Amino acid sequence: MKKWHKMFTGHILDVIDKIEDESIQMMFTSPPYYSKFVYPFANTMWGGDKDCDHKFDKNRKYWFNQFCMSCGGWYGQLGTEPTPEQYIEHFMMIMDALEPKLKHDGTVWINIKDSYSGSGNASGHKKDTKNLGKVTSETTAIVDGPSKYPSVNGYKRKCRFGIPEQLVTAMIKRGWYFRSRIVWVKPNHRPENVKDRPTNDHELIYLFSKRAMYKYNQIKVEAEDGFKNQRTTWEIDTENNPIGEHEATFSTQLPFLPIKAGTDFDDIVIDPFAGTATTGICAINQGRKFIGVEINPTMVDHAKGRLERETFTPLQYFL
Ligand SMILES: C[S@@+](CC[C@H](N)C(=O)[O-])C[C@H]1O[C@@H](n2cnc3c(N)ncnc32)[C@H](O)[C@@H]1O
Repeated sequence: MKKWHKMFTGHILDVIDKIEDESIQMMFTSPPYYSKFVYPFANTMWGGDKDCDHKFDKNRKYWFNQFCMSCGGWYGQLGTEPTPEQYIEHFMMIMDALEPKLKHDGTVWINIKDSYSGSGNASGHKKDTKNLGKVTSETTAIVDGPSKYPSVNGYKRKCRFGIPEQLVTAMIKRGWYFRSRIVWVKPNHRPENVKDRPTNDHELIYLFSKRAMYKYNQIKVEAEDGFKNQRTTWEIDTENNPIGEHEATFSTQLPFLPIKAGTDFDDIVIDPFAGTATTGICAINQGRKFIGVEINPTMVDHAKGRLERETFTPLQYFL
């Protein structure tokens, strides 16, 4: 049997219906984080009326991140919403659309990072991303601080949005089972230019299941007196992005244990924000099938190239 993958180009909510119901065993993804980057080709319409001709204010500095003056839909990308609440709402639209595609014993693993209000100039930003904080606050409905220190929807400048916590609450309210929170510690994390809080050197991976009973192959690790159950703190170095864009990305090691635990041979793993298909490479190299969705056509080309170059046909297919 050949290694199996499908890459869809487009906005996840537009292509989701091409995927069969109850066909996906697990999702592993790292969505665009809130207020961090502006991704090329990622602006799209959220909500509103599909048949509307959409009217936007042409005098605004940014032509994206705007509500349509006719139907109220919002044109922008996941991560650049005016408020964290709207970001979570959009993310939940995606989870609602994915839910029927997931098998009844399926799981969802989400790698997510928090951000700080007014931190568009944070370290690690490049010329094209450093004003993102200003972009989000410019379009914000409620600005309640002195203009020098804009706040976003009541989150004062410097305040953490608490995105991971908001995501968990929203998922639980939607009926998902919140099963685990894994702390991904990055030993090679870049220093941060801060003196009034500890440096963040980790990100989080959340495990949710659709039902109370779900597919999970227990992972045991060596201990002094035999074996013990896998713990929730994982030390994994970041790697340079394979195509040299944005910040350091996760390595193929990160989805390794989730895929091993959440799937068996031939199960389908999906990444709705596939990027360069790191999840796909890890899935295929473990004998799983992969569906990736990516809005940026250039990135899809990179992903397809990597999926050919960096995957091998798993050994069991030769037996
Ligand atoms: C954090 S990156 C994922 C990186 C990925 N893990 C990798 O291996 O390269 C998020 C990706 O989501 C894509 N994206 C943003 N909005 C999207 C949408 N609405 N539908 C599908 N993909 C989207 C971006 O173009 C970007 O490549």
